[in-house]
Amino acid sequence: MKIVTTVFQLKQEISQHQAGDKTIGFVPTMGFLHEGHLKLLAQARAENEIVVLSIFVNPLQFGPNEDFDSYPRNLEKDKELARLAKVDLIFAPSAEEMYQGEPSYTVRVHDRINVLCGKTRVGHFDGVATVLTKLFHLVQPTSAYFGMKDAQQVAVVHGLVEQFHFPLKIVPVDTIREEDGLAKSSRNVYLTSSERSQAPAIYKGLLIGKELVLQGERTKQKIVDEVSSYIMQHTSGKIDYVEVLSYPELINHEVISGKLIIAVALKFTKVRLIDNITIDI
Ligand code: PAJ
Repeated sequence: MKIVTTVFQLKQEISQHQAGDKTIGFVPTMGFLHEGHLKLLAQARAENEIVVLSIFVNPLQFGPNEDFDSYPRNLEKDKELARLAKVDLIFAPSAEEMYQGEPSYTVRVHDRINVLCGKTRVGHFDGVATVLTKLFHLVQPTSAYFGMKDAQQVAVVHGLVEQFHFPLKIVPVDTIREEDGLAKSSRNVYLTSSERSQAPAIYKGLLIGKELVLQGERTKQKIVDEVSSYIMQHTSGKIDYVEVLSYPELINHEVISGKLIIAVALKFTKVRLIDNITIDI
């Protein structure tokens, strides 16, 4: 496994793999790897000759009052996990290497962002789209792997790839959960022990919503109300949103149909958790 930190080294490595006409599976991350990331790496490993992992806590996608400074980092452990996952190449640049100070060109996302996390995290998806545009150009993957844990990100990345004609395939991967249902997240380490024991209620709430839909409920507000009230009753967190939208278009319909997403964001003391379920009716 090779580890490179500069664009120059990365380009050299990628051109060697391309000369050999190898398929490249790419897993972009912000590090502090857990089993969710490992699932993406395992799928990339199974489907490609070369697996590239990027580890970069992207300052551009964090708002001024968000957790960029306190975002958990552990590059040594990440390297060990990547080695076990049989990654071929890690790209772990500094912010200076990626942006040379303040970035002078950025990508602006206009679609699929006025709902869910995009509504309150202003500029977040511009930051995601900007870093991925750079990474896709550098890594030139055959396929790139993204977790459905961040379903809005998957929807936006699909749009980005389509609109800018990136010659690659986006592969969505199901959310990996703890045994009690809590979606794995690098940020879970910042839950207090009492919050940690309440947090599975997010997924239970989502399952209640899904069950309602499967039983024939089609009124969006009814589903939002049931999911919200379950989560409010079982946690001390503050609901940021509970939304039911079409997926991947992320459009709000009062009467639901087709492929949809039920999504939740819940604020605890130090950390905001997100989770979702997609259903096809
Ligand atoms: P990060 O939060 O590190 O996540 C990297 C990838 O892992 C994302 O595609 C995310 O959806 C996926 N992932 C996280 N938790 C998961 C889980 N429990 N199950 C399955 N997949 C999971 O998402 C980002 O980084 C950044 O926005 C990035 C795309 C790297 C751009 O900076």
